[in-house]
This record gives sequence, C-alpha cells and structure tokens, in this order.
Amino acid sequence: MKKVPNHVAIMMDGNGRWAVEKGKPRSAGHYAGMLAVRRTVEAAVQLGISNLTLYAFSSENWKRPKQEVDYIMHLPSIFYKTEIKALNKAGVRVEFFGDLQALPLKTLAVIKKTMQETIHNNTLILRIALNYGSKDEIINGIKELVQANSQGIQEYEELRQFFWTKEMPDVDVMIRTSGEQRLSNFLLMQAANARLVFIKAYWPDFERDMLSDAITNN
Ligand code: FPP
Repeated sequence: MKKVPNHVAIMMDGNGRWAVEKGKPRSAGHYAGMLAVRRTVEAAVQLGISNLTLYAFSSENWKRPKQEVDYIMHLPSIFYKTEIKALNKAGVRVEFFGDLQALPLKTLAVIKKTMQETIHNNTLILRIALNYGSKDEIINGIKELVQANSQGIQEYEELRQFFWTKEMPDVDVMIRTSGEQRLSNFLLMQAANARLVFIKAYWPDFERDMLSDAITNN
C-alpha cells in the first residue's frame, strides 16, 4: 500500500459552471462548494491526511460581480455556524491564509474566531486560502525580509520564513477540479515538487473516492 501523502492541496474550481448548468445562481454553486468542503474534510480525516489546503478566493477574484464577492466573503460565517462543532469533534484545526488584512472586517472577525476556537486540534490542519496569490505572497515576503535583514539571504528556506504560509509543509499532491489544467498563482513555491492531479468533475460534485484515487493512483 502506498504511503498517504502528508499534504494535499485542492483548487476548488467549477462552482459557477455547476450552478449555471443547473439554472441556479452562482452563489448556489459556492454554497454547494462549501458542502463539498465538509465532505472532503471528513474524507481527509478518514484517509489519514494530516494537511489539507483549499483555494477559496484568489487575489484576482475581486474582479467578479460585487454580489458574488459579497457572498463568498459571507461563506466563512456560514462555515463557522454550521461546521465548528463537527470540526472540533473531528480534531480539525482551521487556518486561513493570504492577504487577510484586506478582507471585510466581518469576514476577518469570523475567520479569527474559527482559528482561535480550533487552535488546539491536531488530527488535520485545514488551511483555507482567502485573498491569496502566490506572487503577492512572495513579494510581500521579500519586502519584509529586506526590512528585517538587509544582509540578504542564501537559501530558499530563509525566504520561506517570511511567507504567509511559513508553517505549511510542501505540497505532495495538488488537485484541480473542473477540467482546468493551470496553476493559477496558487502555492507556486510550495508545490514545486507536487504531483498534479486534474479531475473533470466540478467542485460541488467532488467525492471521497476522487480524493482517495488522487492520493493512491500515480
Ligand atoms: C471557483 O469556482 C470557486 C471559488 C472562487 C470559490 C470557492 C469557495 C468555496 C468552494 C467555498 C469555500 C468555503 C469556505 C469555508 C470559505 P468558480 O466560481 O471559478 O467556477 P467557474 O470556473 O465554473 O466559474
């Protein structure tokens, strides 16, 4: 039997198309996407994955219609209300990462609450990227590094200490749903050696078996 990867990252793509094909508003696709997050977290715990990272909102996603952006920014609050009990029961620690200071204050408050209330869990670390872009993370890290250490650095490991994701282990398997085969500025350095898995299904239709296949079939 193959070893379970330590860190699986997922680009949750296709919520909009899923909704449009069903004649529903795009927000219905994002809500269904949140339910898929719930199922995937449960599956990851069962499969023994220790680190699961999800791309929820990129720094480019602000260009979407305001109504859609507002809905996605409200999702962490729905997520908190509906999931916090189950997350704590399953031992899931939740961390949000990205340029968090630029988020609406209500969103920031609820993600902080979610992080604080799960901080002692250690079965699985669920990391959710919100307002994240890999190039932004690298530039921001370099700016901070220059301020902290004008002598410069020799190795990538030293630069990594200035990333929003400095605690995150490298990605072993990177999954993208909906048939798209692009990296879209997600964890470019952290996934430098990751195995890439592209799945045709839209994110709201993502199921346990797809995760299980992705981590076992090479
Ligand atoms: C990509 O599909 C998906 C998003 C931009 C939003 C993802 C958010 C969730 C799945 C919910 C996250 C849950 C929490 C807890 C914050 P798309 O809209 O780009 O789909 P399309 O390519 O078909 O238009």
